[in-house]
Amino acid sequence: MTKPDHPFLAACRREKTPYTPVWLMRQAGRYMEEYRKLRAQFNFLELCKRPDLAAEITVTPVERLGVDAAILFADILLLLEPMGAGLEYTKEDGPLIRSQVRTRTDVEQLLEFDPQEALPFVFEAVRKSCAALNGKVPLIGFAGAPFTLASYLIEGGGSRNYLRTKRVIHSDPGAWRALMTRLSSVIAKYLNAQIAAGVEAVQLFDSWAGCLSPDDYERSVLPYTRATIAALTPGIPVIHFSTGTGGFLKALRAAGGDIISVDWRVNIDKAWECLGYDVGIQGNLDPAALLAPPREIRRRVAEILRRAGRRPGHIFNLGHGVLPETPVENVVAMVEAVHELSAG
Ligand code: CP3
Repeated sequence: MTKPDHPFLAACRREKTPYTPVWLMRQAGRYMEEYRKLRAQFNFLELCKRPDLAAEITVTPVERLGVDAAILFADILLLLEPMGAGLEYTKEDGPLIRSQVRTRTDVEQLLEFDPQEALPFVFEAVRKSCAALNGKVPLIGFAGAPFTLASYLIEGGGSRNYLRTKRVIHSDPGAWRALMTRLSSVIAKYLNAQIAAGVEAVQLFDSWAGCLSPDDYERSVLPYTRATIAALTPGIPVIHFSTGTGGFLKALRAAGGDIISVDWRVNIDKAWECLGYDVGIQGNLDPAALLAPPREIRRRVAEILRRAGRRPGHIFNLGHGVLPETPVENVVAMVEAVHELSAG
């Protein structure tokens, strides 16, 4: 367990901190040589299913980068495997779901399961990561939000315009309701099991919600995300992440979360003003900025800190995950800049 006044946990409660805490989405990943070395020996799913290796990958960036939180090495799609969806990660096309869900009957054929029993390796990785972190920084657990997981089940993988998903929303509301109800309940159970195993905060990834209109989000997504968040163990901070959703920030806020994570398509001061200062904010450097020289990175960090105004409740992060081509030393420069420029 981390001390409750750790800057990351204090920021989650919107309390004053000695500096702005910072971590990065995908901080445990391919841009790191340590990760690429392990990946040369094991495929991605094997790494996820080996708690000793998953814990090692979780802890390495904390030591290497000096970030204020660790995020569990796992994937949002792991939860789809015990549903019977048939999950694969391919070199060229990213994740592939073999049994796609398109109709009410498909939804009914999804398997019922208890996440605690179906994914024991995840919870073992949580315990091992906590032991290795030894209270130095908190461990963040995570899951996909109902919409983003539904989109993978329906599309069979990533998508450009989410046409199949939108067709179900617009043309088969019964199937959509059945799928989203299933997902929102299993996601909450999965996150609560991560909390029971020791994570000290959770992030809900609604990565692709930005493809929706505000009305569709409010009507067809918000109630299910809200149900998931409402079913989580009280007292554990929840970060609600999405991208491209600057046009309906208030609806995201209404769905829940102690911290709303915003991407770089919206200025963080405007976003916070719109959300209201009774909620925290995470973000929002463009991941591509980490390909720039350290001086330029520092300038952009300063600009985001200026916009956030050192108001309690800001957690510095990228607006989306670290790109695989990012030089590690640029990430280190970013973390140092956040700590130095926000101190005092
Ligand atoms: O952030 C971290 O460092 C923790 C681990 C983590 C991974 N995936 C590891 C991973 C987290 C939090 C995720 C979340 C995730 N997974 C999301 C939400 C965040 C986002 O990026 O929007 C999504 C949409 C996925 C689904 C997923 N997993 C995709 C689309 C891909 C392929 C594309 C890609 O980025 O590689 C993955 C694979 C994946 N997940 C890798 C890693 C380190 C790369 C696997 C490899 O080593 O080849």
